[in-house]
Amino acid sequence: MDVTPPLGLLAELTHRCPLHCPYCSNPVELTKRDAELSTADWLSVLSQARELGVLQVHLSGGEPLLRPDLPELVAHASSLGCYVNLVTSGLGLTSARLSGLVERGLAHVQLSAQGSIRERSDELAGARAFDHKLAAAAAIKAAGLPLSLNVVLHRRNHDQLAGIIELAERMGADRLELANTQYYGWALRNRDALMPTAEQLAAAEPIVRAAVARLGGTMEIVYVVADYHEPYPKPCMYGWGARQLTVAPDGTVLPCPAASAISTLRLSSVRDTPLADIWYRSESFNAYRGEDWMTEPCRTCDRRGLDFGGCRCQAFLLTGDAAATDPVCSRSPQREVVDLVLTRPPVADVVMRG
Ligand code: SF4
Ligand code: FES
Repeated sequence: MDVTPPLGLLAELTHRCPLHCPYCSNPVELTKRDAELSTADWLSVLSQARELGVLQVHLSGGEPLLRPDLPELVAHASSLGCYVNLVTSGLGLTSARLSGLVERGLAHVQLSAQGSIRERSDELAGARAFDHKLAAAAAIKAAGLPLSLNVVLHRRNHDQLAGIIELAERMGADRLELANTQYYGWALRNRDALMPTAEQLAAAEPIVRAAVARLGGTMEIVYVVADYHEPYPKPCMYGWGARQLTVAPDGTVLPCPAASAISTLRLSSVRDTPLADIWYRSESFNAYRGEDWMTEPCRTCDRRGLDFGGCRCQAFLLTGDAAATDPVCSRSPQREVVDLVLTRPPVADVVMRG
């Protein structure tokens, strides 16, 4: 098959983070600080990514502000002609720090929030974070940058949905992403505590619909569904190795941010292989590209061009086979695995991200 160049690079600069969100999708085993790529390594990754065709660079983590070389990395990505987005908790994003990043070419900030009420938000973040986020949002708007607010939804904050939309309006967000929890990495541990109920999801629908109608001209609202409750899977990554690549803090290159969970996949690293070789020729990026890897029922399914067989990580985590049909799919012979999860009684306590 013809492989086209990637559009985006998710650069996970560090796994270190001041928050302890129970829905964290980063791996259970995090990269330690001394195993992180150096500044020179990251500069090279950015140059190689641009040569490969990347136009959008998302500097993420963990908390990317914990890297003192962030201004240098922003300046380099921007000088290459990339659109540079910072994905942050907002902790540590002072006006002074932000203006230094804007001077170096930062174009956009994606800020996370845990909820609309201070006490519950801070409880979910495992840190006093809410007021810092308000201040960060004000600084982002004052700097004239577009702001996206990202809120992960789950059983413990679905009741705040209307308040979260109001919070985004108060912050002056240009875009609001309301993303039901995806169960990868640490989040999978907390699945029985975080899974929203069918009633919560039904209640969310008219709230989101009304907000989209009311705010259409001023704020884009994206609602990411709770896929376990859906009859068909999400078109994860718009196909494996199709549009974006992720470089983890230690230099491992991932076809999707959660792919390190697939223990059967042999992953490559920028420490010993050029990025272009990894994108075009590596075993990991070619493993589930296109449709040749598909088994039945995906192989002959009329929806395979729409959802690409769903999510490879979810297939692996729930069935042990990354080439299986995503068991979220109602046509999957293993859908019962998902149905069983939905019938389990909720767990009262979450395990905070360690
Ligand atoms: Fe998608 Fe495969 Fe399900 Fe068809 S069988 S809807 S291609 S996951
Ligand atoms: Fe990895 Fe879906 S999260 S393919």
